[in-house]
Amino acid sequence: MPERKKVYVTRELPEDAMKLLKSKFNVEVWQGEMPPPKSVLKEKVQEIDGLICLLTERIDREIIDAAGTQFHGISQVAVGFDNIDVDAATEKGIYVTNTPGVLTETTADYAFALLMAVARRIAEADKYVKSGRWKVPWGLTMLLGQDIWGKTIGIVGMGRIGSAVARRAKGMNMKILYYDVIRNEKAEKELGAEYVDLETLLKESDFVTIHVPLTSSTRHLINEERLRLMKKTACLINTSRGPVVDEKALYKALKEGWIWAAGLDVWEKEPTDPNNPLLKLDNVTASPHIASGSIATRTRMAIMAVENMTAILEGKVPPNLVNKEVLKVRPPSS
Ligand code: GLV
Repeated sequence: MPERKKVYVTRELPEDAMKLLKSKFNVEVWQGEMPPPKSVLKEKVQEIDGLICLLTERIDREIIDAAGTQFHGISQVAVGFDNIDVDAATEKGIYVTNTPGVLTETTADYAFALLMAVARRIAEADKYVKSGRWKVPWGLTMLLGQDIWGKTIGIVGMGRIGSAVARRAKGMNMKILYYDVIRNEKAEKELGAEYVDLETLLKESDFVTIHVPLTSSTRHLINEERLRLMKKTACLINTSRGPVVDEKALYKALKEGWIWAAGLDVWEKEPTDPNNPLLKLDNVTASPHIASGSIATRTRMAIMAVENMTAILEGKVPPNLVNKEVLKVRPPSS
């Protein structure tokens, strides 16, 4: 019997995924809550055939250069893959996969939940009651928020997740504006979404929600100049990647009232510093990058990552190959 291929996993996966993986490969798992240090990854890639990793691992050129010729693939348990130097992997014939689709609805649920929480100040209300500050039985002006029903939502990035958010917005009778580098005619036809430039979207939306990948052209896409275009009553929701928003500029915008509030699931640095001034603001609702975090979805993501890895190591084209050009460098079955 040929020797089983070796897969290194950078964190324990849900049980079903782990069982499936272990039924096929020799598996080693990094035993720690924190990501493995770079030195460990550099050493491991010299002898393993595949790596299953999370978005917290920076798989840069140095790690990829250290890989032996047997090293065949990186299977990321996430849809975003800005932590991986995909160009370096492609040059070396290393397949890179992600987990799109399975987390779309869960992430959109969360983005919309955050939007509603921010608009109606749910996190503040919770603290208000629990801290014993609720004294007046019912206050006509107590913790007043913004309406959602029938308002305008501006979706930055109308891909899978943006479209799923738009479907929820349609249910709330919202006017849907969107901006993307490519038009989404399906969303226009089916959801009545209107394609506008980013400036128009920012000026006209009551809610701006971000659903773009992090790339060199989306880094600090929402900067001081653009925040200044938004309505004073607007809410900004970010469940994509933290560096898409310039946090320093956002702090000024929230502190000085250029915009009304923000809901942030993602941060320029994760975990964000407990002293991040944004965390001191009542008009910020914060969470620790959990938008895709339902029990069922995280299991599906892990299983998908295992299936991608299995296809790679069986010499097939994996279902969610990110770097299709790699097929020329290392054709399947080689
Ligand atoms: C989570 O942020 C993901 O990219 O899947």
